[in-house]
Amino acid sequence: MAPMRSNVSKRPNITAKLALGAFLAALALPGAANAMPWSWDMFTQPSYKAQEDLPPARPEGVVPASGHTYVKDRADSARLKSPVEPTSASLERGEAMYKRYCAPCHGDTGKGEGLVGQKYVAPTDLTTEYVQKKPDGDIYYTITSGGLAIMPSYGDSVAEADRWHIVNYIKNNLVPRAATPVSASK
Ligand code: HEC
Repeated sequence: MAPMRSNVSKRPNITAKLALGAFLAALALPGAANAMPWSWDMFTQPSYKAQEDLPPARPEGVVPASGHTYVKDRADSARLKSPVEPTSASLERGEAMYKRYCAPCHGDTGKGEGLVGQKYVAPTDLTTEYVQKKPDGDIYYTITSGGLAIMPSYGDSVAEADRWHIVNYIKNNLVPRAATPVSASK
């Protein structure tokens, strides 16, 4: 009985060593490991592929009802005229959107004291004459396409109308707000 038992206990040992060897070999050969079925089985599936079929026919007489404002570059943006009057509703909306999208860097005052602005590269002070004298379209362009150097673009996240509301807020209310202490403005 005793010799048999020792035989049985040795077999798993050899199997484990073989398995480990095979595993290490697979690791050493990434090409071979990638050829395992689980690395490509998601490719062969019965899903519908893009452009596989013709697009549905467009109903007759249909034309696009809206489009995007096209600007070639920053210089070209100066000609844009804001389609949004700086009404109190626009300024209110602009302030809310400014606080959501711009204040994290530029700060509630526009001077660059936002929490991200302090850690990131110092943002341009939006209360300076340099920014305040800019054409509306130039600021619109900055929101849409980003700053001169590293400010990211917000064209993907801020709707076109909201960009103009933000421009209205920066041009009309940001400086007076910046002059008012935060506690007094509430
Ligand atoms: C992630 C931080 C960050 C956010 C968010 C941000 N900015 Fe900026 N902004 C900067 C930095 C940094 C600069 C200076 C460097 C540059 O121009 O790229 C700058 C520059 C500017 C300028 C001056 C560009 C010029 O012509 O010199 C304007 C105007 C401006 N930002 C407006 C905005 C507005 C409006 C928003 C909100 C929609 C906004 N920024 C959101 C970081 C930010």
